[in-house]
Amino acid sequence: MSYLTIALAKGRLAERTVELFERAGIDCKALKKPTRKLVLVDEDQGLKFILVKPSDVPTYVEYGAADLGIVGKDTLLEESKPLYEMLDLGFGRCRMVVAGFPRHRTRPITLANKRVATKYPNIAMNYFRAKGETIEVIKLNGSVELGPIVGLSDVIVDIVETGNTLRENGLVVLEEICDISARLVVNRVSLKMESSKINNLITRIDGVLKEEGNDRDY
Ligand code: PRP
Repeated sequence: MSYLTIALAKGRLAERTVELFERAGIDCKALKKPTRKLVLVDEDQGLKFILVKPSDVPTYVEYGAADLGIVGKDTLLEESKPLYEMLDLGFGRCRMVVAGFPRHRTRPITLANKRVATKYPNIAMNYFRAKGETIEVIKLNGSVELGPIVGLSDVIVDIVETGNTLRENGLVVLEEICDISARLVVNRVSLKMESSKINNLITRIDGVLKEEGNDRDY
């Protein structure tokens, strides 16, 4: 039997993804059992779920190790892989911003090569390059807000959801880069080879999104 393989991002988006799939009539019982397994097969539905690190979802889908994937737009922008982005799922909403100390709202940093700490070096580079600014990117893997606080960087480029992390660390949004939300992506060959199965799945998910109103953040 040929399975459709779906790469799911572990973490923040996982719960919302399961909720959405179930509304679309995709049985997710395999995903709900506590397990350390990384491949979960649902024979009845002909689906195979693989659980991957969010930043790796585009790689699995690009190489066809997964036919579809659910991943944040932040990761898609950072990885810029040749994938088909089919649906905006409407959850996992946040903003990609430049943040720093409040004093820089009125006194922008004019240093050449200002230092930018971020988990998203490509997004940061592209954003500042488009503004005609050269920067030094300092790649971090988390707790990016520490950058300006400990003097490692002048500003950060990061996602803001509730704003609590910035607030509690005395930082503010200085510039908005773009809006982010979860997306459904598809491998380019799979879309041709498995078009009926994939389109059927997409139609069902899209139906739920339209029913609920795409602006609802569920
Ligand atoms: C993300 C992001 C911010 C925070 C924003 O980090 O990098 O630090 O969430 O969310 P908020 O606006 O709701 O506070 P994450 O929780 O993924 O942890 P990390 O710092 O380890 O990457």
